[in-house]
Amino acid sequence: MKVLKTIEETKDTILRLREEGKSVGFVPTMGALHEGHLSLLSESISDNDVTVVSIFVNPIQFNNKEDLKKYPRTLEEDCEKLKDAGCDIVFAPSAEEMYPEEAEEKYDFGKLERVMEGAHRPGHFNGVAVVVKRLFDICTPHRAYFGEKDFQQLVIIRALVEMENIPLEIIACPIIRESDGLAMSSRNVRLSSDERKVAPAIYNSLKNIIEQKLINSASKCLRSEMEKLNAMPGMQVEYLLLADENTLEAVQDWDENRNLRVFIATFLGDIRLIDNLKV
Ligand code: PAJ
Repeated sequence: MKVLKTIEETKDTILRLREEGKSVGFVPTMGALHEGHLSLLSESISDNDVTVVSIFVNPIQFNNKEDLKKYPRTLEEDCEKLKDAGCDIVFAPSAEEMYPEEAEEKYDFGKLERVMEGAHRPGHFNGVAVVVKRLFDICTPHRAYFGEKDFQQLVIIRALVEMENIPLEIIACPIIRESDGLAMSSRNVRLSSDERKVAPAIYNSLKNIIEQKLINSASKCLRSEMEKLNAMPGMQVEYLLLADENTLEAVQDWDENRNLRVFIATFLGDIRLIDNLKV
């Protein structure tokens, strides 16, 4: 497995592989890798001749300085995991390499960026789009893999690919969970042991909401689960809502004719966690 730090070397290496007729799969990450990331990697390995993983904690997508400072950075361990899992190339640039100058690109995703994460994390999706566009230009993949854990990000990346006419296929991968249901996340390691015990309630609430759909209106289901969660120690729900998978528009009630998902963002102590579940 090659570990590359510069844009030039990464671009050249991958272009050469493409010229040899190899298909290239790409998994962008911010490191602190867990089974969720590795599931994207194994999808890519089974679909492509060569798999590239990027590890870059992208400063411009953090709207909270403290979150950026505390984001776990474990490059050596990550590379061990990637090597064992069969990754071919790791691209791990410095911030100076990715941003020699301040990034000035501005993307407009319309309504898609005005709801949920977009509404609560100003500038977040522009920062994601800037880095992902640059990573696509450097890694020139045939296919790129994104987790449904960050469902809104996935929808925005699909919009970016369409807007910019980027010739690649976006592959969506299911959410990988701990055995107690908590969605895997690099931020989970920052939960205290008490917070970690409370955390599975997030997924349980999503399941409860959907299980009650034949009995209660969506607003009633959402309200009662929101109240239950907020009564738990350290839990402060930011949003809990039902939305259309394609437009991400909030939907007032169950609708068999639309593809719906329940989305949540919540603080548990200082840690902000997100999750979602298909209806
Ligand atoms: P990061 O949070 O490291 O996630 C990298 C990829 O792994 C994303 O596509 C994310 O949805 C996926 N992922 C994370 N946890 C998962 C889980 N439990 N199950 C399945 N997939 C999971 O998302 C980012 O980094 C960044 O925004 C990035 C796209 C790299 C741009 O900086």
